[in-house]
Amino acid sequence: MSLTFDIHRRPDPATDERRAEILANPGFGQHFSDHMATATWTKGEGWHDAVVEPYGPISLMPSAAVLHYAQEVFEGLKAYRHEDGSVWSFRPEANAERMQRSARRLALPELPTDDFMASLKALVETDVAWVPAFGTGETSLYLRPFMYASEPFLGVRPANEVTYSVIASPAGAYFPRGLEPVTLWISEGYARAGRGGTGAAKTGGNYASSLAGQLEGIEHGCDQAVFLDSATHTAIEELGGMNLFFVTDDGRLLTPELTGTILEGVTRSSILELAKDLGLEPEERRIEIEEWKQGVRDGSIREIFACGTAAVVTPVGELRWEGGSAPSTAGDEGGEVTRSIRKALLDVQYGLAEDTRGWLTRL
Ligand code: COI
Repeated sequence: MSLTFDIHRRPDPATDERRAEILANPGFGQHFSDHMATATWTKGEGWHDAVVEPYGPISLMPSAAVLHYAQEVFEGLKAYRHEDGSVWSFRPEANAERMQRSARRLALPELPTDDFMASLKALVETDVAWVPAFGTGETSLYLRPFMYASEPFLGVRPANEVTYSVIASPAGAYFPRGLEPVTLWISEGYARAGRGGTGAAKTGGNYASSLAGQLEGIEHGCDQAVFLDSATHTAIEELGGMNLFFVTDDGRLLTPELTGTILEGVTRSSILELAKDLGLEPEERRIEIEEWKQGVRDGSIREIFACGTAAVVTPVGELRWEGGSAPSTAGDEGGEVTRSIRKALLDVQYGLAEDTRGWLTRL
């Protein structure tokens, strides 16, 4: 039977003034709505106790398995306000299905798509006032579903008690400098993921393992790190939390193929679809880092951009590595193709272009 979320409203929600102040300048990931949705899974019983309750600290034993063995997965998607006031999500079933794949890899229980959708709907209905108004720039209510091993047990085995929650965070641009291109650092010493590992799963460990490379990049004046394949250290994989695309001089849109070590981005797959509408030929294949270095110099690579739910489409500028660099092709605000792909995506998400692929679901 599908889950029904009982709503327990908080007695002390944020005042209208405070919420308006936050929504006027939300930033990313700093503010949270009044409620969260939660459900519990226990072995033998399945999913139960689905509630929407006040957002606040969670009670966890210090022995909870997630704190020791990182048995955890998460998702990221957004709720967009349209001009008529309605609120929509973009391809939420893709997030539900990816969370199921991630859960399988981390030996966590799968949350059925209907229950995933019910959790989003229950939370957004309760906190609908937290979805930023239409026409306030690139703002949305970022939804963060996550699932973790809450069982207090120190043996290494899949947990018998698991908690699933969704929290909501009003969001503006992920990068505070807007469309200013990000500078990337090639992390030669660190890999993000390896063959047979968890690279394709959306699990905290992949993000944790990207941080040392990102720190190394920051120390070299860069914004983000780009990770190469762990076997040969020559093929481009992805950034710490975004996929990469390359626009060639002959109208192709290249992106690294999915090898099991790269996150199957929902934005990535949407861009591969949208590319065709824009007259670009999508190509998923192994891309050598040398091809990037060479391509920006000889003009065969015209534009580079990174993408993800949080960052949408972000122009990539200079590439740096120990002892060298390759120039930016992005100008001050990214190239023409980068900007048209970004606009095509945002127009569908905000209801400004016809949703010909049925990507939107009303929340
Ligand atoms: C997202 O784009 O939604 C992510 O989960 C990536 C993270 C860097 C915010």
